[in-house]
Amino acid sequence: MASSTAVLLRRLHEESRIEIIARARAQFPGSNEELLSLAEEYEAIAPRLRGRFLETFGLFTDDFDSPEGSRLSLAVSPETGGFLRNMVLSQWPARILELGSSCGVSTLYFADALRTLGRGVVIATERDPLKCARLRDHVGTAGLDAHVDIREGDVFETVAELDGHFDMVFIDVWADAYLKLFTQIEHLLRPGSIVLADNMYTAEDVVRPYKHYLDDDPRFSTTTLDFESGIEFTVVVSRADMASQGACRDGAQ
Ligand SMILES: C[S@@+](CC[C@H](N)C(=O)[O-])C[C@H]1O[C@@H](n2cnc3c(N)ncnc32)[C@H](O)[C@@H]1O
Repeated sequence: MASSTAVLLRRLHEESRIEIIARARAQFPGSNEELLSLAEEYEAIAPRLRGRFLETFGLFTDDFDSPEGSRLSLAVSPETGGFLRNMVLSQWPARILELGSSCGVSTLYFADALRTLGRGVVIATERDPLKCARLRDHVGTAGLDAHVDIREGDVFETVAELDGHFDMVFIDVWADAYLKLFTQIEHLLRPGSIVLADNMYTAEDVVRPYKHYLDDDPRFSTTTLDFESGIEFTVVVSRADMASQGACRDGAQ
């Protein structure tokens, strides 16, 4: 990774961490010491238990549409970012669709990997104008403009205007939109496309319809990675815009 991008990402991760702690502090009724010990416990438990853990202590309930919640960066962790970067380096995707870019942390991991490969673009989507301004600024600072196409506005309107196909999709909008959004982009997928969705454990109850949809459809092979917030790793096996039982590549049975 370019060292200037690594420096920028370190700063953005730290800012995001501070925001999350401040939010937890505002939500949590106990003392600072109790909150600190909860944070340590959270780090130590298995990722698949994290959603229940947060719920038990009334932390991070789904109020992201509130003014306080929606302002947060809610960036992926450095570990998840590294995973996204490696996915790109191993798969060589020409076109990546990122649904929910916020201030651009995950975007930077994708775009930096594309720069390493010397080709490819990530379409970054975000509706919050202030976050979009920061996203643009971060992409420019990292010198990654050639690999990022920013689409400001509601993601449902953005995806309605897309055509062609995407080799990789990252879903990281509010969890209650996952299934509806996925069904709207199915026609943009082809056999071999990879769809990654974050927060499968931390928003377990809300994303359940998305999980069931993928589990029940033979066009998709899917598994939840027991890692960080829980990442759904889905591979398109057969044409996603057709109800088909057999695997095929580029439309050929
Ligand atoms: C969890 S954050 C994304 C974090 C980002 N992937 C990163 O790692 O930095 C989710 C983002 O989705 C955006 N979002 C939620 N619903 C949206 C919608 N309908 N259209 C566009 N953006 C949306 C929010 O504004 C928020 O910034």
